[in-house]
Amino acid sequence: MTNVSLCSPRASSGIRPTQVELVNSLVPASIPSNHVLLRVDRFGFSANNVTYQVLGEHPHFRYFEFHPAPHSFSARYGLVPVWGFATVVMSSHPGVSVGERVYGYLAPTKYLLLPVSPKDINKYAFYIPRPHLPADRRPYNQIIRCSTDAQYSLATEDATMLYRPLFWTSYWCEDWLHTSGYRNGSSRILISSASSKTAFCLAYLVAKRRSKEGTQIHITGVTSKRNVEYCKGLGLYDDIFEYDHVAKLPASTNERWIYVDVAGNAGFNTQLNAWFGSPYTPTLAASVSLGFSSLTPSQEDKVSWSANTSYSGDQQPQGDTSQFWPVVEPFFMPEWLDVRRKELDIKEITRRQREAWAQLMVDCVSWVKIQRVYGPEKVKKAYGDMVQNNVGPEKGFAWSLWDGEREGDSLSKL
Ligand SMILES: NC(=O)c1ccc[n+]([C@@H]2O[C@H](COP(=O)([O-])OP(=O)(O)OC[C@H]3O[C@@H](n4cnc5c(N)ncnc54)[C@H](OP(=O)(O)O)[C@@H]3O)[C@@H](O)[C@H]2O)c1
Repeated sequence: MTNVSLCSPRASSGIRPTQVELVNSLVPASIPSNHVLLRVDRFGFSANNVTYQVLGEHPHFRYFEFHPAPHSFSARYGLVPVWGFATVVMSSHPGVSVGERVYGYLAPTKYLLLPVSPKDINKYAFYIPRPHLPADRRPYNQIIRCSTDAQYSLATEDATMLYRPLFWTSYWCEDWLHTSGYRNGSSRILISSASSKTAFCLAYLVAKRRSKEGTQIHITGVTSKRNVEYCKGLGLYDDIFEYDHVAKLPASTNERWIYVDVAGNAGFNTQLNAWFGSPYTPTLAASVSLGFSSLTPSQEDKVSWSANTSYSGDQQPQGDTSQFWPVVEPFFMPEWLDVRRKELDIKEITRRQREAWAQLMVDCVSWVKIQRVYGPEKVKKAYGDMVQNNVGPEKGFAWSLWDGEREGDSLSKL
C-alpha cells in the first residue's frame, strides 16, 4: 500500500514556506508491537495549522516533532499536526481494535503509524508516548475513542474538527479571565483577529456569561478591513474596528480594558501600545497573547520567518514600550487546565465541558460554511489557495488525502 503525506518546508530549509509537497511512501505490511495503523479519513485545516507550520522548529512549540515526515524528506520538511478523524486499520496493541473510530492530533497523510503506550490506555482514550516532548503536551498525545466520547456525534464530525482544537483554548481562557473577575472589573475586552474562530469563540463565551450572570463587559473585535462585515454578521461582538482604525477606539480615561491578542501582529500592537500610552485612553489591565494568526507564510515578507523567534519576547510591542503596557501574558491552555484540575472536581470539569460543547454545536451552525476537499492534488491546491489568496473566514476546511468519501461520511455534513 502507498501512503501520501502533505509535507511542509522547515524554516531552516530555506525553501519557500508555501511550497508544500506531496510525498509517497510505503505503508508497512506489518507493524511493531503496541502500534496502530490509522486510516486518516478527514482533518480540519485553518490558520491554526499554518501557525503550527511557522512554529514547527521553534524550540518551545516544536510542532514538527509530533509526527515524523517520510525519512528522505525529514531534514527539509515536516508534518504539520492536524485534528481529524481516523479508523484503526491495523493494531498490535491488545486494547485497541481494528475498525475503531478515533479523533486526535493526527498528520496530513492517508495512513499514520503510531506507537501506543502499553499501559496509558482506558476506555475513553489511548496515548502516544512522546518522551522527547515536555509533559504538558499530554493533551496532544491523546487519541480519543469515539465510541465512548460524550462530545462525539457523526453529524458534527466536521464542526468538531474545526472547533474542538481551539474552542477549549477560548473556553479556558475565558474561565481564566473570569476567575480573576475580569482583572478586577474591566469594562471591555478587546480581541484581535476577530474573524478567527479562536477570537469569536472567546467573544461568544464572554457574551454567554454576560447574559447568564449579568457581568458588565463590552466586547470589541479588531480585524482586517476585508473581514469587518463578516465579524459584524456573526453578531458575537458589540462593535468591530479595523486594524488601521486604532484612533477610532472609544477613548475613556476611567475604564479598564483587557486586550486578548489572537493576531500577534507586531505593527498593530505597536500602534495600540501608543494609543494606550495617551493620558486620554483607558488603562490596560491585562494584555494576553493567545495566537499568531498574522504569522502565515503569505506574510513572510512582513514577519520574521525564523526558528529562533522568542515566544513571549516577540509579543512585546516594539518601539515605545511605555509604562502603560503591562507584561504580555501568554495563555497556554494545558497549564491553566492543570491549575483548574486541582481546584475543580474532574466530574465538574467534564460536566461544564459537555454542556458548553453541546450548546456550541447548536449555536455555531451559521458561523462558518464547511467545505470538504478530497484527494492529494486538490488538497495541495486548497492549501495554496488558503495561504496565498487569504480564503475568507466564512469557510472552514475539512480535507482528506483520500479521493472520495467513505460510506456514511456524507451524513456528517452540517
Ligand atoms: N494558545 C493556544 O493554545 C491556541 C489554540 C488554538 C488557536 N490558537 C491560535 O489562534 C490563532 C487563530 O487560529 P484559528 O484556528 O482560530 O484561525 P482561523 O479561524 O483560521 O483564523 C483565520 C483568520 O486569521 C487572520 N489571517 C491573517 N492572515 C491570514 C492569511 N494569510 N490567511 C487567512 N487568514 C489570515 C484573519 O483574521 P483577521 O483578519 O480578523 O485578523 C482570518 O480571518 C492561531 O494563531 C492559532 O495558533 C492558539
